[in-house]
Amino acid sequence: RSVSRTPVLRAPRRWAHSFPQLNSVTEHDLDYFRKILPPSAIITTLPPNPSPESELEPFNNDWMNKYHGKSTTVLKPRTTKEVSDIVKWCNDRHIGIVPQGGNTGLVGGSVPVKDELIISLANMSKVRSFDDVSGILVADAGCILQSLSDYLAPHNYVFPLDLGAKGSCQIGGNVSTNAGGLRLLRYGSLHGTVLGLEVVLPDGTVLDQLTSLRKDNTGYDLKQLFIGSEGTLGIVTGVSILTAPAPQATNNVMLALPKFENVLPLFKEVKRQLSEILSAFEFIDRRVYDLAIKHGQGRALDAEETEGAECFVLVETSGGNREHDEQKLNSLLESLMEADEPLINTGVLATSPAQFASLWAIREGLTEAVSKEGKPYKYDISVPLQKFQEVVDITREHLRSEGLMREGAVRHVVGYGHVGDGNLHLNVVADAYTPEVEAALEPFVYELVAKYNGSISAEHGIGVMKTHALHYSKNAVSIDWMKKIKQLFDPNGIINPGKVLP
Ligand code: FAD
Ligand code: MLT
Ligand code: ZN
Repeated sequence: RSVSRTPVLRAPRRWAHSFPQLNSVTEHDLDYFRKILPPSAIITTLPPNPSPESELEPFNNDWMNKYHGKSTTVLKPRTTKEVSDIVKWCNDRHIGIVPQGGNTGLVGGSVPVKDELIISLANMSKVRSFDDVSGILVADAGCILQSLSDYLAPHNYVFPLDLGAKGSCQIGGNVSTNAGGLRLLRYGSLHGTVLGLEVVLPDGTVLDQLTSLRKDNTGYDLKQLFIGSEGTLGIVTGVSILTAPAPQATNNVMLALPKFENVLPLFKEVKRQLSEILSAFEFIDRRVYDLAIKHGQGRALDAEETEGAECFVLVETSGGNREHDEQKLNSLLESLMEADEPLINTGVLATSPAQFASLWAIREGLTEAVSKEGKPYKYDISVPLQKFQEVVDITREHLRSEGLMREGAVRHVVGYGHVGDGNLHLNVVADAYTPEVEAALEPFVYELVAKYNGSISAEHGIGVMKTHALHYSKNAVSIDWMKKIKQLFDPNGIINPGKVLP
């Protein structure tokens, strides 16, 4: 396909054809909600006792402050039964609902398109059970990822998912977005580790599939439909997940590379030498590394040693024997440095827990650094590894040719991501979110991804941002069946309207 420069439709028209007829929350509805929830679990700007607008603000605006809803009411149920009662009422009354976890999603899926009711899972945050033989954890959907990791640590287990938003995102949100994150290379996706779910369906029925079985081949695996469906088929209230034994030893090393072309041979070599102990291989281009340092994410590596480095790779190992792992890592570094044509300029091996954390802080802080620098247009794509740098460079050149690589428009075009998973985060950092920049980027980026047979969303989802672009990664038959599934589960279209489907 050729790369076209056709501007996309302006945002409000994107969902105009698919947004169902829905009712706003009224005082009559609030009277019902007040019967089932305590006052502290209701935030509303409706009379007779309106809460200040500022209390609703964090729920109506997304993490990037790019997407803005106009909800009048947030409910914070404490039990699955309360969720079910609210959803049943809303379905009967045709009131739209947005399920909200930690509101860290990056595609606008977690905030209303209009004035839908927000159901926050924040008050459902209990661990229901943990079996320290099987490692199976069952938890409320509102548990924060970091708190689950903290819970597991004394049991010598780790959560099979880790990401920079761990301090705020919730396990229900992680499951609903099928979050990938920094450990996917080691533990695989949530489609594999989630063993069971409890979901409140759009008519209020509770679908209890909260099994804790490793093996269960009894017909359709319905839970898989909810993993990654971004709250459009139901509200996840409980999650059963297989956690992993904590590694006895973890190490990391930040490698500085003279040129991008070395990333792939390096990945091959690292896999060959570290094999079973390799647990992360993360790519960071020079520009975004500099932004991380500028905005105080982690400690800078020695400037002299990293001079001229075009990009960086963070390698982590997790294994069962410290001596053995360190030996493997050291001999990897030696062989890399002593090669006739070294693939790396330098490698900084963490020698203390503080340094280990600081190296990860650089990688985990990229999202925040980019947001501090400006307004990021985030494209989370899967493309062949060889094309990572090309996609970033072509996009930058395209913006330059459009006269947008200038003060007042676009400041940086950067790339980072999960090389091990073929997932590039292309970030275009602009001064502001403007139709001009958006029209230059879309469908340009999506056409580029389609040219490489890639995916327009590797791990963040579709949300409201990419509904119009779904066809770049899903064919007509697939989209048709997705719509039929949505219709079957949610005939009134009340759950997360305007999201995922075009
Ligand atoms: P929210 O943002 O609240 O919601 C996300 C979507 O899920 C929405 O559509 C919402 O309606 C739905 N939802 C939420 N809870 C439920 C529920 N209980 N039932 C049904 N639907 C629900 N993503 C990655 O994949 N990998 C990363 O490495 C990664 N790193 C990130 C780093 C930072 C700093 C930030 C800000 C975001 C990052 N993300 C990453 C994005 C990401 O999708 C997540 O942070 C996370 O999975 C969202 O969880 P949440 O609880 O915040 O969900
Ligand atoms: C990451 O890998 O850091 C996340 O997916 C968030 C982002 O893309 O910025
Ligand atoms: Zn990511």
